[in-house]
Amino acid sequence: MGNHLVIDSSKCVGCGQCVQVCIRDNLAVSDGKVHETGGPCFDCGQCEAVCPKDAIRLVRYEGREPEEYDQSEKVIEYGDMVEFLNRRRSCRLFVGERLDEDEVAKLFEAVRNTPTAMNSMGVEYVLLTDRMPDFLRHIARILEPERARFPRIDQFCSMEDPGRLGRHPLIWDATQAIMAFSEVPADSVIAMGRIEMAAYTMGLGGFYSLWIQKADEVDHEALMDFFPDVPRSKRMNCVFVIGHPKTRYRRTVPRDDAVVHRY
Ligand SMILES: Cc1cc2nc3c(=O)[nH]c(=O)nc-3n(C[C@H](O)[C@H](O)[C@H](O)COP(=O)(O)O)c2cc1C
Repeated sequence: MGNHLVIDSSKCVGCGQCVQVCIRDNLAVSDGKVHETGGPCFDCGQCEAVCPKDAIRLVRYEGREPEEYDQSEKVIEYGDMVEFLNRRRSCRLFVGERLDEDEVAKLFEAVRNTPTAMNSMGVEYVLLTDRMPDFLRHIARILEPERARFPRIDQFCSMEDPGRLGRHPLIWDATQAIMAFSEVPADSVIAMGRIEMAAYTMGLGGFYSLWIQKADEVDHEALMDFFPDVPRSKRMNCVFVIGHPKTRYRRTVPRDDAVVHRY
């Protein structure tokens, strides 16, 4: 029963670790071997990842071998991680060069293993480059009704040409941005956090843009006219403006402590 997994019974020792990690009740052990029960498997691959005998493969990815990793080594120490996170700054000033293809590939490699609700893997991305000026003109029309509420939007909409790049009220002197679209908002936000972190390891920088994202909130349908390849069921839940930083930050600045409520 079930046809999501290829189980190599000659390797399986019936330990049941895969049964324990399966949240869809798709695995059971009988006569010392595991088998699928026909539960609603969503191809998360927890069973394949945990199996000590490497006896399981997802049918969906047949032919694509998983990567073994070293159990003895931590990939990154806590101190290194926190220092990395605390050194991060939003970057709004960039040198003119666009991301090259290798950089783009590396950024999107960093989201391949991002968690998504119900393992939908449904986040879709837009890398906006050449059409940035047209896009800004497009959202200027959408954001028009918000002018009275937000001075920044008013400044943007009052530009003679909202697509004119350079010290721009929404994108400062950037020329590129990445947008993440998904049905579950958190999926996009989590994925973009990974893109942001990867960007910093690569010497890139950027900032999240509330104002661009607002265009989706104000008129999703009109926004999506600009992105005919992206399903309209997905909303633009996160925007990261990106580039090669011009600014070099030299110190961390004080910040409030996290507010943590305990119950
Ligand atoms: C959801 C979100 C939206 C943001 N929107 C903008 C924006 O529209 N324009 C901008 O210049 N910075 C934006 N930022 C960056 C914040 O202003 C910045 O994170 C904050 O001032 C702290 O500075 P730091 O990131 O350098 O630590 C945004 C940040 C987040 C998380």
